[in-house]
Formats: sequence, structure tokens, C-alpha cells
Amino acid sequence: MFRAPFGIIMSAALLLLLLQPQSCWCYEYRVGDLDCWGIPPHSKPLLYTSWSVNHRFHLGDSLLFLYPPSQDSVIQVTARAFNSCSLAEPPLQKLHDGNSVFNLTAPGYYYFTSGVAGHCEKDQKLVVAVPSANGTFLPPPADGGSAGVAAAPGESQSYPIVFGPTPAQGSSGAAAATAAGSAVAAAAALLLAFVLSVA
Ligand SMILES: *[C@@H]1O[C@H](CO)[C@@H](O)[C@H](O)[C@H]1NC(C)=O
Ligand SMILES: *[C@@H]1O[C@H](CO)[C@@H](O)[C@H](O)[C@H]1NC(C)=O
Repeated sequence: MFRAPFGIIMSAALLLLLLQPQSCWCYEYRVGDLDCWGIPPHSKPLLYTSWSVNHRFHLGDSLLFLYPPSQDSVIQVTARAFNSCSLAEPPLQKLHDGNSVFNLTAPGYYYFTSGVAGHCEKDQKLVVAVPSANGTFLPPPADGGSAGVAAAPGESQSYPIVFGPTPAQGSSGAAAATAAGSAVAAAAALLLAFVLSVA
């Protein structure tokens, strides 16, 4: 008597939850976490290398660069310009509004540095690798991988963290994904339990 209407309401609610289209499983990562985008402090010269290897990027994710627009900028460059810190070639893309979102819309390697002369030499440079939808990484560009600027992401797990706490706060996006995934799993389990209990 009591149980059936409750169960019907519950399962209707759960079905709604399960059938709700997921608009996006993508995340916006704040580059450098609390350090944002700038010349790394002396205590963390490998700030962006470390930040990059400690994150797993996926197609559709985006990067948020925060910096004072009067003093800095973000340029996407070729692997060659990245390795040589050369500002001679025109950048692939230039962002300078201080609050720049870069969408990772294709698999591959993305090389960023500052558009301000001298900043790249001071390690304000970031390489991000985005795997294909099936999870495999494309080979890095010929002149991109060998200069020791960044470990290939496939090898990232062994990268030694030589300074400070790990940037765990930057992983909040991934944590949210896991939480959302388990919420759906839990809802599915509840629904299954209900169906079994009624049968
Ligand atoms: C990046 O993606 C967001 C959301 O999908 C979109 O609103 C924005 O216009 C995109 N930015 C660029 C530069 O393509
Ligand atoms: C993954 O996808 C890429 C293209 O996006 C393809 O070249 C590669 O062969 C695929 N790998 C596997 C294991 O399916």
C-alpha cells in the first residue's frame, strides 16, 4: 500500500536523473592553479611542467590563463618556437585579455608561452598533451619532444615532484567527474535494488 507509490515516484525520479542528458563532461583547468600564469617563482622553476604532467586533459577541456593583461599575455606557438623561446615567428594564437580561455578541441600537443620577451626563458612555458577520444596520444611533433622541456604525458606518472605539495587543488575537475560518475552509478544501483525488491 505504502510502498508502491513511493517506489513509483522514486523510480520515476531516478529514471529522470539517469536519462538527463549530460551537457558536458569537460573541465576548465586554471593554469598553474594558485600561481596562475606568470614567470614561475624561484622556488618553483618547473611550475608549469609539473602542473601539466599532474593533470590529465581530455578533448573538450579548456585552459584558463589568468594574468595581469598589462604585463603579460599567452601565445600558442610551434614546438620549435617553444623549444628555442623564439618570438620571431608569428604565434599560432595570441590571447591578452588577462582572463583567457583556450579550448582543447583537437588531440595533439599545445605549446604556450608568454608573448612578453624574456618570459619564456624564465620558464613561463607550458606544453599540454591531449589524447584522441580513444585515449591514445599522438606522437609529439618531431622537434617538440627531445629538448627536455616536458616529459611525454604517457610517462608522467614517474615525474618526480621536487618541490612543494602536489597541485591537488587543480584536480578538482577530475574529482568532480568521478563524483558525478559515482552518483549516476549509485542511482542505477538504487533503481536496480528497487526493481528487484518489487519483483
Ligand atoms: C570555448 O568553448 C566555450 C564553450 O564551449 C565557448 O563558449 C567559447 O566561445 C570557446 N572559445 C573559443 C575561443 O573558441
Ligand atoms: C585512436 O584514434 C586515433 C585517431 O584519432 C587513431 O589514429 C588510432 O589508431 C586509434 N587507436 C586505437 C588503439 O584505436
